[in-house]
Amino acid sequence: MVGVFINGYGNIGRRLASALSVDNEIQFIGVAKYTADEKVKEALDNHYNVFVPKAMISAFKDRGYSVTGTVEEAVKQSDFVIDAAKEGGGYDNKKGLYEPMKKPAIFQGGEDRHGERAVADMIHNSRVSYSKAAGRSYVIQGSCNVSGIGRIMQPLIEKFGSRIKRYDVELLRRWADLEDTKAVKDSIEWERNPHHQDDVKDFIPNANLYVDAFKVPSRMMHLHQMFIRFSDHAPTKDEILECFRSEFGVAIISSAKGTGDIRKKALELGFAHGDTNMVHIHEDILKLQDDMVKIAYSDDQTGMVIPENHLLLQSMVFKRSREEALKRTDSLFQVNRKRKMLEDEFK
Ligand SMILES: NC(=O)c1ccc[n+]([C@@H]2O[C@H](COP(=O)([O-])OP(=O)(O)OC[C@H]3O[C@@H](n4cnc5c(N)ncnc54)[C@H](OP(=O)(O)O)[C@@H]3O)[C@@H](O)[C@H]2O)c1
Repeated sequence: MVGVFINGYGNIGRRLASALSVDNEIQFIGVAKYTADEKVKEALDNHYNVFVPKAMISAFKDRGYSVTGTVEEAVKQSDFVIDAAKEGGGYDNKKGLYEPMKKPAIFQGGEDRHGERAVADMIHNSRVSYSKAAGRSYVIQGSCNVSGIGRIMQPLIEKFGSRIKRYDVELLRRWADLEDTKAVKDSIEWERNPHHQDDVKDFIPNANLYVDAFKVPSRMMHLHQMFIRFSDHAPTKDEILECFRSEFGVAIISSAKGTGDIRKKALELGFAHGDTNMVHIHEDILKLQDDMVKIAYSDDQTGMVIPENHLLLQSMVFKRSREEALKRTDSLFQVNRKRKMLEDEFK
């Protein structure tokens, strides 16, 4: 059994823990907490072993939280680490813990791929570069947006190839996640240099892709509008949708009025953490205009990357075929069943 430790217990770490703690193929070592807050109780109530920095053991014990050991001890007893640190924290963990102890690790999309604080030389997208990760020691799982963009672009590339001249994506990002305590600011803000464009080019190097990103006052998912320019006339709507009918983690829906409808439906249907774990193409606003296709799809920001991490783990550790890995991931996350439920609800 491969011992897996999740270093971090925020929005991503707690979702990873829910899934990996019931995966009978791995030995789940536990999670790391760095602040002695009420989330420790949640982790302990879920029967996870909680590891904390050595210097903080007494702070946790003083608050009545029973901790299993130090983060260092957890890394030592693990075969593999999934780093779920807040943005940028993965680099110090790699240098201070994983490299010295020769432990392979997955990092999340907020980490650097280039420059002084780069944590890995590859960004994974299960649709495009799954098998390239096999046997590597350090890989970044692309962020939710980057995962979503890859999932929509690759089937189009495979079907239409050089007929597509360029892709432009307008990305509307949520201000905060559902569980975040921070306030949602009443403002629309932009990013001067969004990282998504370069990140996608890590696994689709020739993509003629341009991304602009805006943060909007919402907690409910992201919405991308992708403009795809063809060298001749645009294909038909059916030809476009046909590309996605059997794609893993892509739902095609028509009657949602906004991202909040989908998130609320996911909660109502009892999906774990209110996650759909996928992107949802909004067929009702798919437009064909002259040489242009406009596809709008919402992207489950928190849930999207969790099955992606699970797939990446299978590539890096078990070197399994993608087909086999998708079966295992689907049995754990029920992505196909959830997709069918959402497509029925939003016909
Ligand atoms: N949220 C999303 O929708 C989303 C989607 C895709 C990718 N990501 C990426 O996933 C990563 C984590 O994001 P998040 O939303 O889960 O952040 P988050 O909710 O802010 O959680 C970050 C966690 O990091 C922990 N932490 C603090 N110092 C640490 C250290 N040295 N090592 C490991 N963990 C440490 C914190 O612990 P304490 O709480 O105990 O202080 C906290 O639990 C980021 O790279 C982000 O870009 C996020």
